Amino acid sequence: MIDMYQEELLEHYKSPRNSGKIENPSVEFHDTNPLCGDEVTVTAKIKNNIVKNLKFESRGCAISVASASKLSEQIKGKTVNEVLKLDNQFVLDLVGVPISAMRLKCALLSLKAIQKAIIQYKEK
Ligand code: FES
Repeated sequence: MIDMYQEELLEHYKSPRNSGKIENPSVEFHDTNPLCGDEVTVTAKIKNNIVKNLKFESRGCAISVASASKLSEQIKGKTVNEVLKLDNQFVLDLVGVPISAMRLKCALLSLKAIQKAIIQYKEK
């Protein structure tokens, strides 16, 4: 039986929020899951150290696309330092379904991408 969380995840997978690319982003970062080759590109607008807008372009499994979608809703409006402090558990709580060790990389792909993008931004 599909439970509520799975249904919600599936819905995010089918219509991911903040999907695509932002024009003239402050940062752009492309990342892949080496285990499967799935990809994500994050673009973000950052102003006064606040993530004003971000989009993920994901090509991957349901967990990776749905977690990017859910994460995008949480990150808008956070400061860059707040985003850097988000940990794996934050994403796992967002996803809300038990995830095997194999799928952990899928769920974390988008978080790692936005964090690497922000590190790049801070180094500029
Ligand atoms: Fe590729 Fe999940 S199987 S990101």
